[in-house]
Amino acid sequence: GAPVEVDIGALKVGEKMTVEWRGKPVWILKRTPAQIAELPKLDGQLADPESKRHQDELTPKYALNEHRSIKPDVLVVVGICTHLGCSPTDRFQAGPQPSLPNDWEGGFLCPCHGSTFDLAGRVFKNKPAPDNLPVPPHMYLSDTRLLIG
Ligand code: FES
Repeated sequence: GAPVEVDIGALKVGEKMTVEWRGKPVWILKRTPAQIAELPKLDGQLADPESKRHQDELTPKYALNEHRSIKPDVLVVVGICTHLGCSPTDRFQAGPQPSLPNDWEGGFLCPCHGSTFDLAGRVFKNKPAPDNLPVPPHMYLSDTRLLIG
């Protein structure tokens, strides 16, 4: 499939947009400072906090960091659960969220079998999904233009 160029200039802090790449949803989330600060605190609860598994398919080298992204604030992941392929739903609105701890900054919840992911797409321990959400190959053409694929 062809690479997809996306202008993220209008994406506000705390907002997520979805684009299609190779028939898959790719999420682009502009994380808040609080959401970024939360990530290291979650490491002990995650199955693969450093994204060491299947690096070639799941996490390109330039995303091998705590935030799993090129820019610390902008998450780019394929929004398909690594268990059986459902699309997880957003759980990063303010306030307590069903089935998630009350004290975190949110993430994604798979409606099919309850896997939960943090705001870097990292899967929590003891969930059916074995792996973190894939980070697709991508690069920045300018500050606000992203090329996926
Ligand atoms: Fe997501 Fe099973 S498909 S938990």
